[in-house]
Amino acid sequence: MLTVKQIATPSFALLSYVIQDSDTGECLIIDPCTDIRSHIRPYAMEIKAVINTHLHPDHTMGNHFFAGKVPIRAHRGDSGFIMRAMHSVLSSVYTTRIPPKISFDLEEGTTIPIGDTSIEVIHTPGHSPGSICLYWPGNLISGDTVFVGNIGRTDIPGGNALTLRESIKKILALPPDTKVWPGHYYMDKYSSTLAQESSFLNWVVEKMY
Ligand SMILES: [Fe+2]
Repeated sequence: MLTVKQIATPSFALLSYVIQDSDTGECLIIDPCTDIRSHIRPYAMEIKAVINTHLHPDHTMGNHFFAGKVPIRAHRGDSGFIMRAMHSVLSSVYTTRIPPKISFDLEEGTTIPIGDTSIEVIHTPGHSPGSICLYWPGNLISGDTVFVGNIGRTDIPGGNALTLRESIKKILALPPDTKVWPGHYYMDKYSSTLAQESSFLNWVVEKMY
């Protein structure tokens, strides 16, 4: 069984996650924050990978702690020049480090095994070309695609509102009792369910064209 540890970083209202199998200790780190190390118990965890839901630099600030130790993975849609340049410059500003190498090996349908569970990658472009969500039964790590009562912005280079609309439709096809774990908390809203979000998201799909 997977447990979800949510870590809030007030400066960016960022939400990072540690997803861990309670039997094997295997875990994934999602969008690591700058103090991610204080949330890791090295002797009780086997970190399989760091996953970036997308490459905006607020979601990659803790990547460098894992460089050369575990794979750092993202979708190839964010490997383009604009995303790399933006990531590189802003990461240098925020973390004063050159960002570590990322494996752009995640795509729609990629499965990531953790213990007995397979986590599925859902490609949800729109906020950025390579934005992904991570799904396993009952849970969706939604990155900056969907927040509680809001959706990801599309006015950043690489963003596209109509593409985001199609991604939201994909998310709406998941079971209503799916818990939503977003990439940011706005107005102190940290998680929700698709059942709670569906009327807002359906309204967005209807209006966004
Ligand atoms: Fe973002």
